[in-house]
Amino acid sequence: MNKFDSEIHKRRTFAIISHPDAGKTTLTEKFLLFGGAIQTAGAVKSNKIKKHATSDFMEIERQRGISVATSVMSFEYKGVLINLLDTPGHKDFAEDTYRTLTAVDSVVLVIDSVKGVEEQTRKLMEVCRMRDTPVIVFMNKLDRDGQPPFDLVDDVEKELNIHLHPLSWPINNGKEFKGVYNLYDKSLLLFNPNQKATEEDMVPIGDLSDPLLARMVGEKDAAQLREDVELIEGVYGAFERGPYLAGKTAPVFFGSAINNFGVKELLDSFIRIAPEPRSRETTKRVVEVAEDKLSGFIFKIHANLDPKHRDRIAFMRVCSGRFERNKYYHHVRLEKEVRFSNPYSFLARDKDVIDEAFPGDVVGLFDTGNFKIGDTLTEGEDFYFTGIPSFSPEIFKEVVNKDPMKTKQLEKGLLQLTDEGVAQLFTQYGGNRKIIGCVGELQFEVIQYRLLQEYGASVQFNSLPFYKACWLTAEDRKKLDEFIRFKTANIVEDKDGHLVYLAQSQWFLNTEIANNPGIEFHFTSEIHK
Ligand code: G4P
Repeated sequence: MNKFDSEIHKRRTFAIISHPDAGKTTLTEKFLLFGGAIQTAGAVKSNKIKKHATSDFMEIERQRGISVATSVMSFEYKGVLINLLDTPGHKDFAEDTYRTLTAVDSVVLVIDSVKGVEEQTRKLMEVCRMRDTPVIVFMNKLDRDGQPPFDLVDDVEKELNIHLHPLSWPINNGKEFKGVYNLYDKSLLLFNPNQKATEEDMVPIGDLSDPLLARMVGEKDAAQLREDVELIEGVYGAFERGPYLAGKTAPVFFGSAINNFGVKELLDSFIRIAPEPRSRETTKRVVEVAEDKLSGFIFKIHANLDPKHRDRIAFMRVCSGRFERNKYYHHVRLEKEVRFSNPYSFLARDKDVIDEAFPGDVVGLFDTGNFKIGDTLTEGEDFYFTGIPSFSPEIFKEVVNKDPMKTKQLEKGLLQLTDEGVAQLFTQYGGNRKIIGCVGELQFEVIQYRLLQEYGASVQFNSLPFYKACWLTAEDRKKLDEFIRFKTANIVEDKDGHLVYLAQSQWFLNTEIANNPGIEFHFTSEIHK
């Protein structure tokens, strides 16, 4: 294997996702501790927007600064280079999370075993399913009284509509939680809340009839475990990697992140089964990772905190070829050649200028306003990566300019902020009214604050009675024109000039879909790529 190929094989790029409070931050931190990327517990906590600070935008600004550093956490573990992409925990920033998922090759989904599947778990799973992203499930908080494990697994399978395959199995939970049996390498790890589990605590138990088992967990629990394992092996059979890689089956691990219990097994299995960087679809052809020419796309843009410096950092996922510092690359949308003298990598949480990067890596590129989400860099070829859609916002507000002298600044600010993906900008069809669509209320505060701070533009928002945006297409343009004529008040254009219908409610939407069979209503913008 040449150096280039071995660099690709070495990489695993993934994200940890969860409904807020399920334990994503805690698990991230334990992974980083194992990877030697941090030395003390508590180091990652600062990345989290605390519940009580939800309407404090200064706090958000501070967090934005911190989260640049933690956007990508790269570390080595047992010879594997892991790129862990951070996703915001707050639900108002869900769209950021969805976009980050376009840049990873797999995810670890954390579920609170007491609460089971929650609202955000469901949405995140939908996004994973759109791209058949391989998912590993970590059932967390086994030290708390939750549902019995079989019920939990059943519940998650039903709720998320995915096959699960247990690779470890708990002995009780809550106060009676005794440990986890690793079905993959047939070993037992005993739980002791006051003492962190180490490799020495692993007890190999090849045969569950070994009297050692009963001595360690008691006769009753040993019998239960034997019964459970027999059932699991009967129902699920041997684990196969293929269905996992195809996004059809999700291996499941049990543990307790805060106690660092079951985390190492998860990480060890992760590096064994999680996918390496893979080929990706574009508008023109499939791009193979091992191609020698560079390609990559921007999935996230971060504004600088300092208002005097308007430059931003654009995060590019490298998809093929080798990225090199100071080399000219082709910016497909702008049709121009660009080069970067200070590209960043994020090894061990330090931003470092790098000379090269490989498929699976994320590089931070200084940007003075040239990039927007979805932009592609190549070595000359024209294509875009597919699967980076805008999702329908959930809250819509009209932008009211409070200072007509600053109209130009406002327009520029709106364009730049929405290029960053903070929100989506729509324009009234045949008119000039600007409408902002977001996933959460918090973004409106961020936008208002940043427009004033960074562009000197003062705005107010007026709520609009819409709840969903649908991108419209029709084979027969006449049908579309007719629909627009009748529904003018609900029609807007997105930033690329695509027609969008804003629905007041599910009932209206269903009615329009039923009454207009010649028109297709799409819930993401993907169709236009
Ligand atoms: P998030 O990023 O998914 O939002 O969750 P986070 O890791 O911040 O965890 C949410 C809460 O759950 C934290 O408590 C954390 O300590 C706790 N937690 C995480 N893993 C476990 C576990 O295995 N068992 C138990 N019992 N609790 C767990 P908190 O009180 O909200 O925050 P903190 O005061 O501990 O920081």
